[in-house]
Amino acid sequence: MSYVAELVSDVSYKIGHATKRVVLRAGRRFAQANEIRPGFFDQYPQFFETSETTAFANRLNERHRAIIDANRDAISGKRVLDIASHDGRWSFAALKAGAAHITGLEAREHLIKAATENLRDFGSDRFQFIQGDAYKALAQLEPGSIDTIMCLGFFYHVTEHMTLLSLIERLKPQHIIIDTGVAADARSVVVWQVENHEFESDAFKTANVQKAVLAGVPSKPALDMMLTSLGWKPRYYDWKNVGIRNWAHIDDYQEDYRVTLRVDANR
Ligand SMILES: C[S@@+](CC[C@H](N)C(=O)[O-])C[C@H]1O[C@@H](n2cnc3c(N)ncnc32)[C@H](O)[C@@H]1O
Repeated sequence: MSYVAELVSDVSYKIGHATKRVVLRAGRRFAQANEIRPGFFDQYPQFFETSETTAFANRLNERHRAIIDANRDAISGKRVLDIASHDGRWSFAALKAGAAHITGLEAREHLIKAATENLRDFGSDRFQFIQGDAYKALAQLEPGSIDTIMCLGFFYHVTEHMTLLSLIERLKPQHIIIDTGVAADARSVVVWQVENHEFESDAFKTANVQKAVLAGVPSKPALDMMLTSLGWKPRYYDWKNVGIRNWAHIDDYQEDYRVTLRVDANR
């Protein structure tokens, strides 16, 4: 073989080899990026149908790890209150995790119906859903009647954050699990927004005088300040270090504008 032919063959071999390596590496990265972990809600696909609110498999499954799996000791055998219980997704998951009893509070009638249907196999002695404004319902519950309070996807749909926390405090729970949107601001602020009360995910219109329904989204420093003002020590779920490779539909947790935390009475 002439020198030129040998050189061409060597170069093309190296290019071919390098290209193969790049393609393999990209393929591996692509596979990892697409790696959606299976989870709890895959077995219960009815929850992808009974809610119009971010009922995506990856989101519900990863939230299940953060809300239920990370807090099994605070749920198993406990009387659990689910504020803003929606279609019963977290009430159902808590009962499956061994909760002794669930009380769900939810303003919207069609969601109470969906939740009751979704939980029917547990038997009515294991759960009750109360329809109405969560603030009013909370004020009527007996202190000491609830062990664990889940306040999920609700804290950023309200205007009276400290009143809500005081109503929670009044019940003297052992554990509180909060999952909430937070405003991306390093200062301790509440960012106001107008919600669409016709959306089932948004704030319920509780007063007839309201022309627009407002909600205050606290920044994380503001949330911390609210919680610590009651002597509570929040422990945050470490969303970035639990092996999530595919952030589809959970980028709010990845980008720090949503958090999950727990407070224990004895800590
Ligand atoms: C974003 S969804 C959260 C659903 C579920 N807890 C979750 O985290 O996946 C907010 C829920 O709060 C309910 N809600 C809004 N305002 C309420 C109020 N004042 N009292 C009770 N429920 C309310 C809505 O109907 C909706 O089901």
